[in-house]
Amino acid sequence: MATSSGGGSGSGGGGTYSYRNGATHSHKSSSKLDTHTHKPLSLNSSSNSSSKNHVKSKSLGPSSTTQRRNSTTSKDHHPSVPGRVRVAVRLRPRNAEESVADADFADCVELQPELKRLKLRKNNWDADTYAFDEVLTEFASQKRVYEVVARPVVESVLDGYNGTIMAYGQTGTGKTYTLGRLGEEDTAARGIMVRSMEDILADVSLETDSVSVSYLQLYMESIQDLLDPANDNITIVEDPRTGDVSLPGASLVEIRDQQSFVELLRLGEVHRFAANTKLNTESSRSHAILMVHVRRSIKGRDAGHSSENGNHPHSVKSLKPPVVRKGKLVVVDLAGSERIDKSGSEGHTLEEAKSINLSLSALGKCINALAENSAHVPFRDSKLTRLLRDSFGGTARTSLVITIGPSPKHRGETASTIMFGQRAMKVENMVKLKEEFDYKSLARRLDVELDKLIMEHERQQKAFEDEIERMATEAQHRLSEAERNYIDLLEKEKSKYEKDYMDSIRKLEDQLDMCSSCRL
Ligand SMILES: Nc1ncnc2c1ncn2[C@@H]1O[C@H](COP(=O)(O)OP(=O)(O)O)[C@@H](O)[C@H]1O
Ligand SMILES: [Mg+2]
Repeated sequence: MATSSGGGSGSGGGGTYSYRNGATHSHKSSSKLDTHTHKPLSLNSSSNSSSKNHVKSKSLGPSSTTQRRNSTTSKDHHPSVPGRVRVAVRLRPRNAEESVADADFADCVELQPELKRLKLRKNNWDADTYAFDEVLTEFASQKRVYEVVARPVVESVLDGYNGTIMAYGQTGTGKTYTLGRLGEEDTAARGIMVRSMEDILADVSLETDSVSVSYLQLYMESIQDLLDPANDNITIVEDPRTGDVSLPGASLVEIRDQQSFVELLRLGEVHRFAANTKLNTESSRSHAILMVHVRRSIKGRDAGHSSENGNHPHSVKSLKPPVVRKGKLVVVDLAGSERIDKSGSEGHTLEEAKSINLSLSALGKCINALAENSAHVPFRDSKLTRLLRDSFGGTARTSLVITIGPSPKHRGETASTIMFGQRAMKVENMVKLKEEFDYKSLARRLDVELDKLIMEHERQQKAFEDEIERMATEAQHRLSEAERNYIDLLEKEKSKYEKDYMDSIRKLEDQLDMCSSCRL
């Protein structure tokens, strides 16, 4: 399956940011239709000054400081862009039991998908109306749900943003059906996790990019590794500088093909079931969290950092680090939103019930605080909210699907789910490109170059020394030869003088002999 525009178009380093799924929408993000003014969903920076103000006054602890600093630093090529959390509501079809038991009752909700509205019946003659970003009826296919809820987030992750897709709702309303179905027996039933990975693998290039996943369960404030069940107390680490959270203790498995990903999900499910049996709980009491890390290398002109000057001399250019984009997709299948009975009727003690509820109620409190623009957002109150810090009021694109059932028996739970979705729609994120220089790979490249230079230097040094030695030897030879020649010459001169001397002596003796004989 190929994405039509994933990875390339839309956002990126060029400065124009358009949230593909949101830019053209102009419907309302109010709670009840009659009580609020509506706000466009555009992420285009020029079109959303009001939401900018809205976000600026929020206090989000260290991460908000970082965001504001990032968005105003002149060196930063990627300012944050406002992007509201998008919320879709999905209605599960009546199940067999509801079809029989409630056959004569009207459903407690009425959907108006073309108006993107939902009516929640108060009684036979009165209903409250709510607007959502998408209204998905009981007939909505898994494919359509993926396309409206998840695909824009997945495309953003491929472009280098963080993204969150989360399902919230009462147990039995279709959260796992929406997110986690593997669809092996019926491919049309594939859920968001499987379809997301298909789109990711179709868009990345495995020679230069990498995709790796962690799969976790959060239960009673402890994080278990669903890919390595022995690892059942994973700690959350926060980077004090950036506010980014990570789970260094969690298994991170590199994914190269769809089949191995599906097998990993299946394995995670088996481990989840085993862990829950051991803990004597149900999966509806725990949160399942899939994290997909997508790391992409950006070459040349595509990179936002490198766009402003292409005329570097060679030496400077070669010192330029490559650019990488690191998008993280977080898919969260939340625990059932129904409150666990605090009287312990389900076999839980009060303390257990409190602890099981803790993360979900903390999430509700954070969303309320963000929706109301509160000065304090209690992210630190639970592990779930610490993990989702970037997803709500942070730098990620976030899409929430709230799942509801049709039965009037659960009207109370349905109403509270709808209110949760309405508040989440008011949460504004400051979406930011996660692009950075890859200094490690530059350092590796420079190491190789340095090694080459050292080798070349040593080679030249050796050649120089050899040449000096050769010249010295040659000079030595020449000197010895000259000495030899000189000695020869001297010898010759000496014998010549000796001979001349002897000749002269001999001549003198002859003359002497002649003189003496004359005198006689
Ligand atoms: N949209 C849907 N169409 C058909 N069946 C659904 C749909 N949503 C949920 N179901 C069925 O309802 C039951 C409960 O769904 P599930 O996803 O397990 O709920 P949750 O995860 O919210 O507890 C399952 O049997 C599931 O197959
Ligand atoms: Mg479930």
